[in-house]
Order: sequence, then C-alpha cells, then structure tokens
Amino acid sequence: MAPVKEDTSLRGQLRAATMAAHELLDHAMQAASGWRTREDYARFLALQHAARAPLEAWLAANAPADLRPPPQTPLLARDLRALGADLPPAAPAPEAMPRAEHGLIGAAWVLAGSALGNKAIAKQVARIGGGTWPVAFLGDGAMMTFWQGLRARIERPATPAEAEAATRAAEAVFAHFLAVAEAGQAPEREAESLGA
Ligand code: HEM
Repeated sequence: MAPVKEDTSLRGQLRAATMAAHELLDHAMQAASGWRTREDYARFLALQHAARAPLEAWLAANAPADLRPPPQTPLLARDLRALGADLPPAAPAPEAMPRAEHGLIGAAWVLAGSALGNKAIAKQVARIGGGTWPVAFLGDGAMMTFWQGLRARIERPATPAEAEAATRAAEAVFAHFLAVAEAGQAPEREAESLGA
C-alpha cells in the first residue's frame, strides 16, 4: 500500500495540529446542545452566537478586511428570532488574540473552516426539522465565498514560524469555543451525553 502523503501545506498543518481540539469541541457542542430537537438547535445557535460575538468584535477592530470572515452573529440572531429564542449574553473575549498576519490567518481558518462542518450539520438539520428550521447561519453563502478566497493563502507551504503563529491562534480560538460549550453544559445534559 502506498504511504499516505503528509499534507505539508499550512492548511494541512493546521488540521493536523488541531484535530484533537476539533473532536473535543464537536463532542462538547453536541453534549451542550446538538440538533435533535428544536430546543437543542436553538441552544446550538445560542452557543455559536455567544462564542462568535467577542471574536467578531475583536476582528472588526483589529483585522484587515481580507482576513475578517463575514460576521455570523447577525445570521445567528435572525435564526434565533425565527425560533422564538432569546439572544444569549456574549462570552468574554479570549485573552490573547494574534495581531500578526499568520495569527490572523489561523483565526480566520477556524472561523471560516467551520462552514465546512456547517454544511454537514445543515443536511441533518434539514432532515430532522423537516425543512422548517431556519438556516441563515448554517447555509451562509458569504462565508463559503470567504473560505474559497482564504484557501489560496493556506493551501501552500508556510515557514515554521508562520505555521507556529497560525497554529497558536487557531488553538486559542478552538479553546475559546470549547470554554463556551463547556460553560453551556448543564449537569443533566452531561450525564445524558455520557449515557447515564
Ligand atoms: C458542532 C459540532 C461540529 C461538527 C459536527 C463539525 C463537523 C465538521 C466536519 C464534518 C468537518 C469536515 C468537513 C469537510 O472536510 O468537508 C469539519 C471541519 C472543520 N471544522 Fe467543524 N464541526 C463542528 C464544530 C466546529 C466549530 C464550532 C468550529 C470552529 C469554531 C469548527 C471548525 C472546523 C474547521 C476549522 C474545520 C476544517 C477546515 C479544513 O478542512 O481546513 N467546527 N467540521
């Protein structure tokens, strides 16, 4: 069997470095919210809103336009309104955010790359909700357009210093989402997710 070729692009390095963090986040978000019911789905959108609000505010003030993913909080607010749910308070901002170019690329990669996962989630939401649940956030075309543009900057090799800066930022953004998801995990839902 031919050996699996290592993906040495910046994107490949980011994916490899944060694979475990992504898995942890995926589990934490499904334990705290999920999309099995309308209420689960509203909680999922509320967690996304709480986590993204401080990041979007920070990027609006600090990142150049080409490294600023389109804001998702207005779309999340629209979906939450359509579900009759309240807007959650914004989570505290992560402590250290990157200002240098590759740090911003790493942060943008996490925020925009999640649109790939959203496509998969959107399919499940369409099935479970019978096509009636609002999907402004999950189906955002502007984020996919931004993602396609970002690919040119991440699907190429990076120096070790660039990769290191991008990875540190990506890890910080994943840790921020994880903290929000874990704070949203009520004890009884945690027990449920552990099969208790
Ligand atoms: C809630 C549960 C989540 C599920 C089920 C999920 C699922 C997925 C899936 C299936 C992919 C691969 C898609 C593909 O390659 O076509 C993916 C990629 C990704 N997701 Fe998630 N995701 C979740 C949450 C998140 C969150 C909250 C973030 C960011 C804050 C995130 C960031 C990413 C990134 C950066 C990628 C990789 C992009 C790349 O391939 O370069 N995910 N996710």
